Amino acid sequence: MFHTSVVPRLRKKQKPEEVSRQEKIKFQDVRIFLVETKMGSSRRSFLTHLARSKGFIVEDVLSDTVTHVVSEGSKPGSLWTWLKDCALRNLSVMHVVDISWFTDSMREGRPVPVETKHCIQDSMPDIPAPDPVTTPRYACQRRTTTENHNKIFTEILGCGHSFEVDNILSDERYQTLKLFTSVFGVGPKTAEKWYRRGLRSFSGVLAEPSIHLNRMQQSGFLHYGDISRAVSKAEAQALGSIIDEAVHAITPDAVLVLTGGFRRGKEFGHDVDFIVTTPQLGWEENLLTNVISRLKKQGILLFSEYQASTLDISKLPSYRFEAMDHFAKCFLILRLEGSQVEGGLQGAEGDNRSWRAVRVDLVSPPLDHYAYALLGWTGSRQFGRDLRRFARLERRMLLDNHALYDNTKKEFLTATSEKDIFDHLGLEYIEPWQRNS
Ligand code: CTP
Ligand code: MN
Ligand code: MN
Repeated sequence: MFHTSVVPRLRKKQKPEEVSRQEKIKFQDVRIFLVETKMGSSRRSFLTHLARSKGFIVEDVLSDTVTHVVSEGSKPGSLWTWLKDCALRNLSVMHVVDISWFTDSMREGRPVPVETKHCIQDSMPDIPAPDPVTTPRYACQRRTTTENHNKIFTEILGCGHSFEVDNILSDERYQTLKLFTSVFGVGPKTAEKWYRRGLRSFSGVLAEPSIHLNRMQQSGFLHYGDISRAVSKAEAQALGSIIDEAVHAITPDAVLVLTGGFRRGKEFGHDVDFIVTTPQLGWEENLLTNVISRLKKQGILLFSEYQASTLDISKLPSYRFEAMDHFAKCFLILRLEGSQVEGGLQGAEGDNRSWRAVRVDLVSPPLDHYAYALLGWTGSRQFGRDLRRFARLERRMLLDNHALYDNTKKEFLTATSEKDIFDHLGLEYIEPWQRNS
């Protein structure tokens, strides 16, 4: 075939690196992949070791988590052909750079911002590579509506990558882990543990006497049918009214805001996310526990796990990546009556039940952190990730759900609205419905 003669023998599978992985990671948001062809394995291993000793993450395998693909001496055309064949979903936002970016970063001891001179341009006319000057490299500089999102997905399928997708999806391990983690309360670790024990189905898990499900997992299985079914916008609105009523009965001037995917204009979600806050600092503290009690008295609380606030301002900014923020929050399963939903419930076919269970998340930040919490909880996850990466690499600022810290000025930047945060970052404001990256 024509291809084999021009495609360099770039290896996808790498030998396990023998370098120590004990080095402390300093730059969580940068994940480097060194392309071995032309560079050679011993040089690659040396560069890997060097970068890790300086606190960089170097991935052995090229995947969608990689942020910087570094190549030395490869022909741009061959490199791009190979990259496009790798079925990466994030290729358009990855930096594809030559070794000069790497050596500059090693010299500076930190990831330097990617400049035009570092980029390996895609000379192939079919799928244009992002132009480093005119096309924003970060999702937070682009507007991605739910419509764009669907189009991008179709394109992916259209350019011959669907085979790879199908291969991944037919993989038994992947399928089983996907099934297990679809249960509320079952994370990747538990799923992996069950898989290793040879379990492949829910009935297998439930029949295994040595497995003890925690409270969350029990509820997850109990309400599986309902909570694995999409929640409609009308259902989200109905829950909003119910919770709003509960919140105001407790604290009349509290404010409840719909966030998550529904705030981004999605028609369906896997849950409904709300932020609730009070104009008086500190009043938010007991708000959630009181709301939970009230919902319980109403007989609509099917499950709740409350996590009190662990916010400690003196420990900010956090240099570690944390999956969870420190605000008081609760993960709920609520009983929603069909009669309260405009147009009725989003039910399974032939289902004539009068109610369904819905997953609801409530988070309650103090007012002075509200804007950051709102931005973080509105998502999307990818948009948030990119915004944090942009802040860190382009502005030397640390952003999370709590705050924005300017590393140059050594101070926190206050914000009362999301717009303030975009202003601090020197970005054009992007509306919630344009954050569907
Ligand atoms: N989030 C967060 N911290 C958490 C959980 C969620 O910051 N501990 C943020 C995520 O970045 C996400 C948003 O809150 O963008 C909402 O989370 P989730 O409900 O999981 O995702 P949605 O975008 O709402 O998608 P879906 O419609 O499937 O619920
Ligand atoms: Mn959600
Ligand atoms: Mn959620």
